[in-house]
This record gives sequence, C-alpha cells and structure tokens, in this order.
Amino acid sequence: MTTSNTVWHDAAVTKQHRAAHKAQIPCIIWFTGLSGSGKSTVANALEQRLADLSQHTYLLDGDNVRQGLNKDLGFSDQDRIENIRRIGETAKLFVDAGLIVITAFISPFKAERRMVRQLVEAGEFIEVYMGTPLSTCEQRDPKGLYKKARAGEIRNFTGIDSDYEAPEHPDVVLDTSSMSVDCCVDHILDHLIQRGILTAVSARARMKAGNNSGGCNKAEADPANKTAGSGKPSERAG
Ligand SMILES: Nc1ncnc2c1ncn2[C@@H]1O[C@H](COP(=O)(O)OP(=O)(O)OP(=O)(O)O)[C@@H](O)[C@H]1O
Ligand SMILES: [Mg+2]
Repeated sequence: MTTSNTVWHDAAVTKQHRAAHKAQIPCIIWFTGLSGSGKSTVANALEQRLADLSQHTYLLDGDNVRQGLNKDLGFSDQDRIENIRRIGETAKLFVDAGLIVITAFISPFKAERRMVRQLVEAGEFIEVYMGTPLSTCEQRDPKGLYKKARAGEIRNFTGIDSDYEAPEHPDVVLDTSSMSVDCCVDHILDHLIQRGILTAVSARARMKAGNNSGGCNKAEADPANKTAGSGKPSERAG
C-alpha cells in the first residue's frame, strides 16, 4: 500500500559520494536459474574474487533472506512476486550505499526480473542466467527437494510444477553442467571488465580457470561437488 502523504527527503551524501569513497562502480549482479543450477555456489565464489580485488560487496541469498526479511512469504506465485519485489528494493538500497550487490534467487518470472532492472539506473542491473539443464539440477539435488517434489511432498517447485521463464537477453549465460566454478566466475569478471565496472589489469590477474580473457575452456563440473540432500525440506529459494 502506498500513501500520498509521504515526501521524499534528499540526502546530502549521495550514491556517487559513497561509491567514490569505495573507489568502485555499484551494480546488481542478479543470478537467476533453477534450484541446484549453481547460483549460490558461483555467487559465493564471485564474491570471494571481488573481495580479493578490494571491491565492497554484499551477497543476498535466497534461503537466507527467506529466514529473515521474507520469512512471512511462501511459494505461491503471489508470494514469489513479493519476495522478488522486496529483494529488488533491498538491492537498490545497497547499490545506493555504493556496493556491488550479488543476488542468488531462482527468480522464475521475467516480469519481476524486469521490475528489478527498472528499479535501478540503466546499466546497473546485470542478469546472469544459470542455464544448467533441469536433468543436471535434479541429479545433483543438493537439498533433496527435487526428490520431494517428484514424490508430491512439496508443491509449487520450480521446474516441476511451477514455471521457470528463462531470460531472453541475459548479460551472461553459464551452464555449470559443463563449466567449472572458476570458469563461471572468470566469465562474469570478463563481463564486468567489458562494462567498465572492473579495470582489466587487476581483474584479469585474478582470473583462474582460463587464459585470462574470460574464455576458459568448458571444464567438467567437479563431481566431488555432488552432495546428498541435507537441507530442510520446506525451503525453496526464489
Ligand atoms: N561447476 C559448478 N558450478 C556450481 N555448482 C556446481 C558445479 N559443479 C557441481 N556443483 C554443485 O551443484 C550444486 C549447486 O547448488 P547451489 O546451492 O549452488 O544451487 P542454487 O542454484 O543456489 O540452488 P537453490 O535455488 O536451491 O538455492 C552444489 O552442490 C555444487 O557443489
Ligand atoms: Mg541457492
């Protein structure tokens, strides 16, 4: 609900001041994809690499946000939309604080991702699509949720009985069935260089998987990373 009795109060210290203090360009790096596609894993590795580059970051992760800010929301379409709206507004505040915000949510619907893109300034929203096939995600099933969804124990599970709308024009596409975590991070760093968010010299020096141009060979995903379901059954990020 909005009210017409509120008036925006401008702050003397602006986003530009805050970003300049941190010597960086704030933005949102928005991961979207099926459960088990590797959003949290790659987002974490990316944040570590950005920290090595002295970038100030904040990672918003689906399950964590659902245990706090969004603990009152479920997995109906309506609640998923409200989940993303709140996350979008939170990410916008952090961008205003001068941070590089990384988000890892299934965020299955195009309209909500577009809504978040439009919340921030042009060029501040970078969409990373984890195009890992459903078969791989289901085989990994790190939280044991696909098994439960197939058994009918949980409803509205994305990819099984709830839609996932793939992005039409993502900024970066990654498939963790054939790309290592380091390779995925290199691709994102390369994109950040191309956009002028990171400087080429320092970022390329931090690239790990390939030839320091973001063009790492597609490597077999680490089979050691396959973990059995141990998460709580009621939790489906997004
Ligand atoms: N190349 C890879 N990149 C990312 N994850 C990988 C890779 N190879 C194997 N994995 C494994 O795949 C799983 C991905 O799970 P992760 O929690 O990151 O997915 P998610 O997209 O965040 O899912 P959810 O939406 O349920 O939170 C992890 O167990 C990870 O170790
Ligand atoms: Mg996750």
